[in-house]
Amino acid sequence: MRMYDIIEKKRDGKELSQEEIKFFINGYTKEEIPDYQVSALLMAIYFQDMTKEERANLTQAMVESGDQIDLSAISGIKVDKHSTGGVGDTTTLILAPLVASLGVPVAKMSGRGLGHTGGTIDKLEAVPGFHVEITNDEFIELVNKNKAAVIGQSGNLTPADKKLYSLRDVTATVNSIPLIASSIMSKKIASGADAIVLDVKTGAGAFMKDLEDSKELAAAMVSIGKKVGRNTMAVISDMSQPLGFAIGNALEIKEAIDTLKGKGPKDLTELCLTLGSQMTVLAKRAANIEEARNKLEENLTNGKAFEQFKLFLGAQGGDTAVADNPDLLPRAAHQVELPAKTAGTVSEIVADEIGTAAMLLGAGRATKDSEIDLAVGIVLHKKVGDAVKEGEPLLTIHSNQDSIDNVKNKLYANIKISTDHVEAPTLIYDTIT
Ligand code: URA
Ligand code: CA
Repeated sequence: MRMYDIIEKKRDGKELSQEEIKFFINGYTKEEIPDYQVSALLMAIYFQDMTKEERANLTQAMVESGDQIDLSAISGIKVDKHSTGGVGDTTTLILAPLVASLGVPVAKMSGRGLGHTGGTIDKLEAVPGFHVEITNDEFIELVNKNKAAVIGQSGNLTPADKKLYSLRDVTATVNSIPLIASSIMSKKIASGADAIVLDVKTGAGAFMKDLEDSKELAAAMVSIGKKVGRNTMAVISDMSQPLGFAIGNALEIKEAIDTLKGKGPKDLTELCLTLGSQMTVLAKRAANIEEARNKLEENLTNGKAFEQFKLFLGAQGGDTAVADNPDLLPRAAHQVELPAKTAGTVSEIVADEIGTAAMLLGAGRATKDSEIDLAVGIVLHKKVGDAVKEGEPLLTIHSNQDSIDNVKNKLYANIKISTDHVEAPTLIYDTIT
């Protein structure tokens, strides 16, 4: 087999066979095929697209390019949730204990990563004592015992994806549905999940800003999942404004606690119930979405989800007193309210820009080595569609810096108040099963 022929075939819009896809992924992972040939193939894929069969074969070849996590020692159907990323997305912190309270095993491998706030692990580390440095055996034992545990990412997962992603980044081929879908799905599948729930965000703060593109990406990932034998469902959810009220690490832990007690923001609670219902059905802990939702709602009000969160925190060294008294979380030196300059209805809270403001406060990492400040961030008091009086606080800035004029300016520039009637945006655009 020759890489030249594979490039030519895709250039001419023909379907690559499983053997051809494996040949190029294996050859590239072993550095036997050079970047320039792979770049040409990626550009051909960008223009010619891939069939469902090719997408599934590409994903499976990437999964097999490195280690695969074996979760078979955990009893039950392991369901993983993946979000394509947004601002103030606190869902994992809520969903893990929430679905675990129904007996769904949640074996979460998580990273720190770059972003407006830290990753799930950073957020959890705002709880004094909580740690993810546990062995694989301890991890499996904890999930079997308590139904939920979190471990840091380890192992050489999907090296082909790492190499391809870097190459796509410099060859203008990131923005391709077959390449994005296979990249995301290969990582989820290599992480050992039996079933997968995807939260594909759409809007200003999302990777996919356009609704039609988001739907296409979701459908592509669901198709891949099913073809490689992992039951998969997806939700398309709004990320035009931040999710919930809190953006920041400790602040989002507090928000998760409120939500697990049934007193969380409406949008965040609704999204968690929607995703949680899908996870519960895929784990075969409910016969259908309605039954799953009823059970989850019950556990938010009867305290079971909250107790499950405490169990999970305590099992990994976290101070469970924090759950009862979130004031024990790290607290920033300054709390500054941002008053509305005019009266009206909030018409826009540009998610990605608000995320950048949180990052300027120190809530997220700009580079892999930056330190994050777990205490700082933003808590919104108004969301799109809410009425506001002149001088009423739009949000509170939690800061450890003396001068935050740059942050205030950014926030004012990206929160719009209108004198017209404005509806709250749609939260769930579609579900794909
Ligand atoms: N996230 C990924 O993991 N891969 C992509 O290709 C795009 C976003
Ligand atoms: Ca939030």
